[in-house]
Amino acid sequence: MKIDAETVRRFDVPGPRYTSYPTVPQWTETHGAQAHERALAAAASSTAPLALYVHIPFCAKRCLFCGCNTHITRDPNHPPVFIETLLEEARRVAERLGTRRSLRQLHLGGGTPTHLTPDELDSLLSPLLRLFPALPDAELGIEVHPAVTTTDHIDMLARHGFDRISMGVQDFDPQVQDAIRRHQSVAETQTLIEHARAVGFSGVNLDLIYGLPHQTPGRWTRTLDAVIGLRPDRLALYSYAHLPSRFPHQAAMPERAMPKEDGKVRLFLMARDRFLDAGYEAIGFDHFALPTDDLARGLHDGTLHRNFMGYTTRHAPDLVALGPSAISQVGPTFAQNDHALAGWAERVCDGRLATVRGIALSADDLARRDAIEGFLCRFVLDVTALRQRHGPAAGGVVADIERNTPEWEAARLVEKDGALVRATGLGRLFARNIAMGLDAYLDKNATAFSRTV
Ligand SMILES: C[S@@+](CC[C@H](N)C(=O)[O-])C[C@H]1O[C@@H](n2cnc3c(N)ncnc32)[C@H](O)[C@@H]1O
Ligand code: SF4
Repeated sequence: MKIDAETVRRFDVPGPRYTSYPTVPQWTETHGAQAHERALAAAASSTAPLALYVHIPFCAKRCLFCGCNTHITRDPNHPPVFIETLLEEARRVAERLGTRRSLRQLHLGGGTPTHLTPDELDSLLSPLLRLFPALPDAELGIEVHPAVTTTDHIDMLARHGFDRISMGVQDFDPQVQDAIRRHQSVAETQTLIEHARAVGFSGVNLDLIYGLPHQTPGRWTRTLDAVIGLRPDRLALYSYAHLPSRFPHQAAMPERAMPKEDGKVRLFLMARDRFLDAGYEAIGFDHFALPTDDLARGLHDGTLHRNFMGYTTRHAPDLVALGPSAISQVGPTFAQNDHALAGWAERVCDGRLATVRGIALSADDLARRDAIEGFLCRFVLDVTALRQRHGPAAGGVVADIERNTPEWEAARLVEKDGALVRATGLGRLFARNIAMGLDAYLDKNATAFSRTV
């Protein structure tokens, strides 16, 4: 795909990644623990399986680019106290859900869940999976930093039925690794992948980030060669989100050495072309998967969904989340736990749910959420289907699609295909910008979001 600097400059604006709609800045403290309790109680009457997310917010040291919610500690007392509190929170949430407990999906995120020792993680998972039993076809996944993850961790996870593992890589180049203060070799990553496969993990994902200091086309090519050589089932290719006002440690990286605008886009395009040539399929705007992987199958059979955990095919209508900053999506609501480890623990120890903010979606929000999620999975806006699913409530988003389409067409972001509006190659690259056109709350001056490029 040919792309010029002018086009990149035009679309490179701060914008949400739309892991939720409405996005977090629209949520309020008036939707707190009581509202979340009501949502859980209402969800108890359904028999559908659940998705469960557990946030484990610990790392031994901070990578300078990191925008995740993590607590840097080497204190061995922290994990046991955390586990006890998390299980207390799990029991409280489970009570509200009555007999509705079966899991279709479990994801442990962080931080680095394998900051906990295998025994600690086992002492969390055994009671958790008794409280929320996984269905036979459930997907159980975890995010790990290979440098702190052992084969004992992997064996213990396999015994609990885990079949998906996502490993952070970011970049294998030594100079980039020095600049981001994160070191890990191809060999240790490979050893872990091979071990995971040997004990039955069917899905291995690697995370890469483009836009980091000292990433040049030459160095990036060597990283891409190494990554393709590892043959992961999935790849996440994230645009570096540089928000030093929110994450002050990011300011310790040399900003002048970061690729900008079209230089940054070119790194994305290089990676995309290499992955497509190596047999991967593009999933959404920042993922790739081998044709044998569920995500690629889900793209073709319409079962691909997007939520806080990323792209998934094991969609459950309700996502229940535990741990600091974790976000639940239950019925037509979102609810977020206290971000701070201490604040979250205090609420749980006081006998409350740890919710601090959230939102109950209106019928207009639900129609827009459906349109945005569908677009970020399949790159198509289908006005007829939106009208069928949402009736008159689709009026707002349909009007926005119709109003924006001529401008998107003129910018070569979309093409009309009968009643469908379909993203072009360029439109896929700037999918977040198209989603922004469907966002009823978008504050064009907001700087809280990362840039879309
Ligand atoms: C919780 S971490 C993954 C597990 C583990 N902690 C690790 O780093 O290997 C989630 C992923 O978010 C991505 N990430 C973190 N900070 C980011 C940022 N500022 N911009 C873009 N991606 C970021 C990285 O690719 C990282 O692997
Ligand atoms: S290991 Fe992962 S979560 Fe921890 S600081 Fe690094 S990127 Fe962030």
